Amino acid sequence: MSTSTTLYGGASHRRVTILDLRAAKERGEKWAMLTSYEQMTASIFDEAGIPVLLVGDSAGNNFFGEENTIPVTVDDLIPLTRAVVRGSQRALVIADLPFGSYESSPEQALATSTRFFKESGAMAVKLEGAHLATVEKLTSAGIPVMGHLGLTPQSLHQLGGYRVQGRTDGDAILEAALALEKAGAFAIVLELVPADLAARITAALSIPTIGIGAGSNCDAQVLVWTDMAGFTANPPKLAKAYRNLRKELFDATQEFAEEVRLGQFPTATQTFH
Ligand code: KIV
Repeated sequence: MSTSTTLYGGASHRRVTILDLRAAKERGEKWAMLTSYEQMTASIFDEAGIPVLLVGDSAGNNFFGEENTIPVTVDDLIPLTRAVVRGSQRALVIADLPFGSYESSPEQALATSTRFFKESGAMAVKLEGAHLATVEKLTSAGIPVMGHLGLTPQSLHQLGGYRVQGRTDGDAILEAALALEKAGAFAIVLELVPADLAARITAALSIPTIGIGAGSNCDAQVLVWTDMAGFTANPPKLAKAYRNLRKELFDATQEFAEEVRLGQFPTATQTFH
């Protein structure tokens, strides 16, 4: 089987595959996933060794300025996904199926996923909830599927807000995870569930779990990149900002404007004769 020794350190420059992710779980190697919505961050994250990039419908809040993910459309996400594919060389690029683009039937999900594959170059799709017949349909058509359980933001209004899931019905989430694995999902995002439930699910599955607000025992962790980099003004409790890039960009912008105002930019270096 053509899998690298580690997801980050493999000598190969080929794309990471779903087989590599399963092999990483078998080795007990943890890995990180980030969202990305355009080619610049995609190339940075790819070069930094992030093996999986998700073009999340969180682009709604973090790219398009929407209040939540519900308004995001397939036509919104296809160009963003194409940019992330073009900006990366090694990462497995996953497209999130937007609300309303897959729930009606497995056929609808196949038509949507086919568009992502043909028009953006996505290598897998992610969908929220336990749509088992849909997962079977997509995987039998050659489209790898990542599941997403726990807090599923597209069901925000049904769930009554962004609340921790599975405190009282943890077994239902465990059952859904097992069913998704059986239907053919290659990995499952667990969002905002108690850490002990995420640990139980991770131990029960042979496919990787990817936690976000799900404790440290998942096989992988995902963050929305703008939260990770400190761009988000009010980040959720589940996120950690590793830098304050909002401040860096703000300061750089003010410095540029001030130098222009004072006649200090451009200098001889940026001048042509
Ligand atoms: O859309 C998204 O960014 C996501 C991740 C938070 C898993 O679904």
